[in-house]
Amino acid sequence: MTAIVRNDLDLYDRHAAAWWDAQSAFAGTLHAVNRWRTARVLAELGRDLRGLAVVDLGCGGGLLAEAMARHGASVVGVDRSRGSLAVAASHGAGLPTLRYLEGDVREPGLPAGCADLVTAADLIEHVDPYAAVLAAAARLLRPGGRCFVTTINRTWRARWLAVHLAEGVGMIPRGTHDPDRFVTPAELVAAAAAHGLGKPRLLGQRLRLWDTLRTWRIHVDDGGSTALGYGCWFTKET
Ligand SMILES: C[S@@+](CC[C@H](N)C(=O)[O-])C[C@H]1O[C@@H](n2cnc3c(N)ncnc32)[C@H](O)[C@@H]1O
Repeated sequence: MTAIVRNDLDLYDRHAAAWWDAQSAFAGTLHAVNRWRTARVLAELGRDLRGLAVVDLGCGGGLLAEAMARHGASVVGVDRSRGSLAVAASHGAGLPTLRYLEGDVREPGLPAGCADLVTAADLIEHVDPYAAVLAAAARLLRPGGRCFVTTINRTWRARWLAVHLAEGVGMIPRGTHDPDRFVTPAELVAAAAAHGLGKPRLLGQRLRLWDTLRTWRIHVDDGGSTALGYGCWFTKET
């Protein structure tokens, strides 16, 4: 039996064609979770995002980037996966304020201070070191700009749900996550502060168990616990 490659970044190219298939094992859970993330962005910044310059780091197939562009934001999505970017660009073709850039999120080829908002959705647990994402976000943001990070906590509950259960029963591809890379809220907040991203506001999640069992994809909603996945808003210090 071949060993599973953990945090297998090649799977984003192998499965790229399925990014916009909300029923697929590859992207179904990301579609479900993206509803929560998009709602959190709109709740924080308003439903009309016109005039907002956004960089979506680790944009993948463009689920969040495109949702924000559809609400009027000018969005640049950055990712290392050429296949994912091709699918993202094709799906978002016709949206004048959406573009994509191939690159490493640790050093995205974009000017300092160009963004009002930087998003990093389910990204930091895939990047080594994850603090480099926060450093990049801080560099891209104008003073007072906002950063929204979503990720998975390093708890036994998250390890069991996101790796053993979700990968075990085929809710997501095997090798998607390395649970040792999961980041606790305290670690995230400390690393962000070290790069000038302050005023952290943590958002907990609850599992929507019925929808998860009904669709075999992980659905989440606002909740009081950060023990599974969570989000955090930051503000770049002036
Ligand atoms: C779990 S997916 C999340 C995609 C998207 N943010 C979403 O939630 O739909 C992680 C993405 O991060 C990208 N990624 C991982 N490490 C990266 C790096 N160092 N530079 C650029 N992209 C990276 C992968 O290619 C993949 O598209």
